[in-house]
Amino acid sequence: MRPSAGLTFAMLGFACMWLAASCMPPANTPGTTRNANAAALAVYPQAPAAEEALELSRQGKPLFQRFGCAACHSVTQERQGLMGPPLAGVSDRVLARHEYNELEARRWLVKHIRDPQGFPSPFKDEAAYKNTHMPPNSGIRDEDLRALVEYLWLLR
Ligand code: HEC
Repeated sequence: MRPSAGLTFAMLGFACMWLAASCMPPANTPGTTRNANAAALAVYPQAPAAEEALELSRQGKPLFQRFGCAACHSVTQERQGLMGPPLAGVSDRVLARHEYNELEARRWLVKHIRDPQGFPSPFKDEAAYKNTHMPPNSGIRDEDLRALVEYLWLLR
């Protein structure tokens, strides 16, 4: 027996819905600014005061593990055989590239974490990092990005 036209249409409908759901980018999560430039401004309207920065960096420490950063980055001066550059002293490096502007340096970190291909680090051109690349992090909430960057900021 041939399936009725109605059943065929229903099945087609489900197939289309499934395709749409699996191919469309996920809807914007509240509190998550996906565009890297917009995120930098949303996360850092201004740089935090010293005390707030310290508290944020404490909150950021476990996030470095949770978001998988530790799989590719050590937090010491040594690379430790990992794919990415070691991150101790990263704020000094980034500051030097932004005329020691603390706000702009932090904003660059946000952009780089959101979109590492769009805002690559100079390591990208070093022989030791050829053919490596950092994955984008479009799903990290703005609030968590701020804590994560403050954690990176104080790594020595
Ligand atoms: C799959 C490996 C990988 C993961 C996971 C990863 N990174 Fe990276 N990261 C890299 C590589 C490789 C580079 C250097 C090349 C580039 O810019 O893509 C880099 C560069 C960086 C830099 C620039 C350092 C500088 O001095 O300019 C920062 C900051 C950074 N990563 C932070 C993070 C944070 C925070 C996370 C977690 C949210 C993370 N990375 C996750 C591989 C990774």
